[in-house]
Amino acid sequence: MNDILPAQAPVWQALEGTFRDVVTEYGYRELRIPILEFTELFARSIGEVTDIVEKEMYTFLDRNGESLSLRPEGTAGCVRSCVENGLLHNQTQRIWYSGPMFRYERPQKGRYRQFYQVGAEAYGMAGPDIDAEMILLTARLWRRLGLEGVTLQLNSLGSSEARAAYRNQLVGYFRAHYDALDEDSRRRLDSNPLRILDTKNPQMADLVARAPVLLDHLDVESERHFERLKEMLSSAGIEFELNPRLVRGLDYYSRTVFEWVTDRLGAQGTVCGGGRYDALVEQIGGRPSPAIGFAMGVERLVALLQDQGYQGLDDRPWLFLATAGTAAELAGLRTAERLRDRFPGLRLLTNCSGGSFKSQLKRADRSGAGIALIIGEQEAVEGTVTVKPLRGTGEQRTLPEMEAADFLADHL
Ligand code: HAM
Repeated sequence: MNDILPAQAPVWQALEGTFRDVVTEYGYRELRIPILEFTELFARSIGEVTDIVEKEMYTFLDRNGESLSLRPEGTAGCVRSCVENGLLHNQTQRIWYSGPMFRYERPQKGRYRQFYQVGAEAYGMAGPDIDAEMILLTARLWRRLGLEGVTLQLNSLGSSEARAAYRNQLVGYFRAHYDALDEDSRRRLDSNPLRILDTKNPQMADLVARAPVLLDHLDVESERHFERLKEMLSSAGIEFELNPRLVRGLDYYSRTVFEWVTDRLGAQGTVCGGGRYDALVEQIGGRPSPAIGFAMGVERLVALLQDQGYQGLDDRPWLFLATAGTAAELAGLRTAERLRDRFPGLRLLTNCSGGSFKSQLKRADRSGAGIALIIGEQEAVEGTVTVKPLRGTGEQRTLPEMEAADFLADHL
């Protein structure tokens, strides 16, 4: 679990702010959901035999003996909230959210136990056009951030019936090669055989490569859906790579699944993952509603952006106000507040807790401000302000407060 320090915050803010802008432009509205839910919600939606539910949740009993878990992701809570609040009755919804998620994983670069996601979910739309919209939206975010080096991987998991038939076939195949399976895969054979395809064990690469491919066993409707989605993406100029091994780590998906991946972050290269989950709303107790969504790992995107030299929002002050002497301190306080009244958004840092002018000007310099305002005994008596440019060549001048403000209006 990491502290995000003030020096790192500008990149986080730029990313989160740009995400908010883009989803808002596409008509998504924010949902804020609790960080805790009943454990059962996650078990039922993400799947009993997934890594997340089996090994990675922070689960505890509350004082009432109820089992609660810190949310490992946002989709389950989002569905729960939409069902509970009646947001899915005969209507479509476009929702976005952001915040910390918790998974007890083995920490490494790009993988943390508390991490942040920004995500979006859409309900009530069954066609491939909303799948395309979600992907286009993410691609627009990359463009707006200037993010480089991410590629889109795409797959379809078909209907749940098609997947069940495929599952049987896969189990048959892996059983026939039982000796070649590692321990993890043997365990998964009965519980979650599709996840074997996701193995990172190089010794199984060959076996997995020769396994039957789900894309070859799609039901007709899913096949049509997927063809149309590919057509839409191509016509919108989005490049993608078909990856028949892409199964995702959560059980609720059907049909379209996708990931944006990069090779610049080492082993944890997925920056965004998502897909359709048409059965989940009903499973959680709502009336059936088609659904699709994605979530992005903020730490991973921040790391990519930083590697590219991305600076984020500039949070340095523009002005630094130095005062010395009791009368000057009072005058300075009033001047600062008048300037803030006149220029909303003005970034003005005041020196607090005294010090000589020399030390205050050193602080001014370190703060990154472009201009220092100085009010000493003389200025306090006269009602003037000394304006001292800290960068470049402009010269220092002492002006009545109003004129100083006019000068600033022209020079900020
Ligand atoms: P997920 O693939 O488990 O999907 O997570 C989405 C993204 O969160 C990952 O691609 C990764 O960037 C980031 N992430 C996951 N675990 C960690 C970690 N331990 N440390 C850092 N980053 C991490 C979901 O969570 C689904 N709810 C996405 C979704 C929304 N599907 C439909 N709607």
